[in-house]
Amino acid sequence: MNPRKKIIAANWKMFKDLAEANEFFKLLIEKIPNTKTQLLIAPSFTNLWHAFEATREFPVEIIAQNVHQENQGAFTGEISAAMLKSVGIKTVIIGHSERREYFGEDDTLLKAKVKTALKNDMKVIFCIGEKLEQRKANTHFNLVKNQLQSALFDLEKSDWNQIVLAYEPVWAIGTGETASPEQAQEMHLFIRKEIVAKFGEEIANQISILYGGSVKPNNAKSLFSQPDIDGGLVGGASLEVDSFIDIIKAV
Ligand code: PGA
Repeated sequence: MNPRKKIIAANWKMFKDLAEANEFFKLLIEKIPNTKTQLLIAPSFTNLWHAFEATREFPVEIIAQNVHQENQGAFTGEISAAMLKSVGIKTVIIGHSERREYFGEDDTLLKAKVKTALKNDMKVIFCIGEKLEQRKANTHFNLVKNQLQSALFDLEKSDWNQIVLAYEPVWAIGTGETASPEQAQEMHLFIRKEIVAKFGEEIANQISILYGGSVKPNNAKSLFSQPDIDGGLVGGASLEVDSFIDIIKAV
């Protein structure tokens, strides 16, 4: 039996204003399938409170796309873990490649963000993944290993029940190009083995590792049927209720 939680997480990035988010929830609530899969949606900060209220009665958790590494302070434009929690948010995405690439978030900063989130009793979806040139140069395994080690390998064993990993090859994000199920499985297995080596079988076998990067209704099933892929982190295809639901049904 696979003891791991299956998860589909929607990352809305900088899409959907309040009216659009409302419309989505209205439709989702009509059509949401009965499933054991854990469903997460990460809207923009401005929609968090409303989204939390709108989905209160439904098996959907609203999560955040980012958090600051300090608990409070003079950091114009930033949002703290306590602020997120005060509007009902208990989970945050950290390490997304767009944050790394466009906002200069490096391993040291990401490690600090993870620590802060955990200290505030939040769960973390931590993203890792290589760029195309790294895959071409065959350095992708090393790169992913480094990303894992630098942010997560000095955690306590007990912290790991607060962590979900997402392997997102950067070359597959928003490009329409997906890792093949075999490429994704190969990396997920590699990640799990690294966790076995550092933290042991028990933790490695309970951690959910999501795949992200152009997950669509037509490729979701072949990805999710791989033994080490425990669901998906979905960008573009999560913005439409029908495709989001088709992906949920593919788990
Ligand atoms: P995508 O985004 O599904 O649009 O490729 C995935 C992500 O960035 O999490």
